[in-house]
Amino acid sequence: MPRNKKRENNFAEVNPLHGKTIILGVTGGIAAYKACDIASMLRRAGADVHAVLTPNAREFVTQLSLTTITRNPSHCEQFQAQADWRPEHIELAKKADLILVAPATADIIAKMAAGMCDDLLTTMILASSAKIMLAPAMNPKMLDHPATQNNLATLQNHYRYDLIAADYGELACGDFGTGKMASVETIVAAAAACLLEHRTLAGRRVIVTAGGTREPIDPVRFIGNRSSGKMGIAMADAAYARGAEVTLVSTVEVDRAYSVLLVETALEMQETVEAEFDGCDALVMTAAVADFRPLGFSNQKIKKSVKEDFSLELTKNPDILDLLGRVKTDEQFIIGFAAESEELLSNASQKLKRKNLDVIVGNDITVPDIGFGSDDNAVIILSADGSRENLPRMPKRAIAEHLCDIIAARFSTAEKEPASAD
Ligand code: C5P
Repeated sequence: MPRNKKRENNFAEVNPLHGKTIILGVTGGIAAYKACDIASMLRRAGADVHAVLTPNAREFVTQLSLTTITRNPSHCEQFQAQADWRPEHIELAKKADLILVAPATADIIAKMAAGMCDDLLTTMILASSAKIMLAPAMNPKMLDHPATQNNLATLQNHYRYDLIAADYGELACGDFGTGKMASVETIVAAAAACLLEHRTLAGRRVIVTAGGTREPIDPVRFIGNRSSGKMGIAMADAAYARGAEVTLVSTVEVDRAYSVLLVETALEMQETVEAEFDGCDALVMTAAVADFRPLGFSNQKIKKSVKEDFSLELTKNPDILDLLGRVKTDEQFIIGFAAESEELLSNASQKLKRKNLDVIVGNDITVPDIGFGSDDNAVIILSADGSRENLPRMPKRAIAEHLCDIIAARFSTAEKEPASAD
């Protein structure tokens, strides 16, 4: 590709939802009211959406709302008199490209894992060969319960259903924890991604780093940063959904089916990533690694001094990306991130060259409401081949899918053009 030629933004052009038949399964939790927004967004993206509610879901959202929003009759009763001799649910289940259960309560998860079918939705799930995704939403204790965790593991590992992980936050019951249904945007992006041909990273080993490192000062204090780890986790989820063998090196604890290696400091992250790097196909360094750490660690809590000033001596941390950029083979693909508060383009492009990266993803941290801690970001993507693209504000999962496309395209080109014999 010629230098500076803008790569087509195919996320906007290719719409995997268009013309697809999607059964939106709605179950009985408070997040059911958000099913209307999911249905609306899917329909506006061109999908033919059919809502199927469990009887309990009707306590939270009406069939009339979902019928109006989807512009298709919504369903609930399993045994309803009907004009056609063919059972409607079987016909719909056969036609569906995707069954998306959002929200998915602990109850439906248990029923799905056990293969039960005592209502219309669970019957359709069993009768369908469509791709199945679910977005759990429940009280954190219910989600954390070994029964729910075992059921989710069964759905994911035995039936290969896709989970759209629940978020951390305040729940309707007033509790804080993981159990909030993922955002509507994240769910729709995950559904779109799932409908794309999805095994494009099968057989590839991908390392992703996530979160911000913490550099301890004493047993109580540390130097940290505002990174939430959401971008890295979205990246690892996207690569895993495409069939990659994923290792997530993270400062943030997450429960996933792929390998998650928890670290705290830059030095621990360096040691862990370096140990995994040999033989990996791609490294995506989304983590915000502290550039400096305290020179010394005080074993005792540092006391408030009588003096007005307190100085902390710092020493430089190794630049993990820089070191690995120097030793990477031609077959390995490295993506770095650049969070900048000024001169985004020139700083990102200098880092791309200096660190010998294949791609750098730059974002302007001065833009309000996106970036750190948010579900969304807007980024520029610069590649070593000179191409550049601007991704407007979109969910981090959608950015991650885009990066997976870039990695997959690079590997498919490399397969088509084997290295010359000399
Ligand atoms: O140079 P700067 O810190 O802005 O570069 C950001 C990129 O470099 C990110 O991808 C980050 O993960 C990586 N990095 C690193 N080691 C450091 C600092 C940053 O790998 N010590």
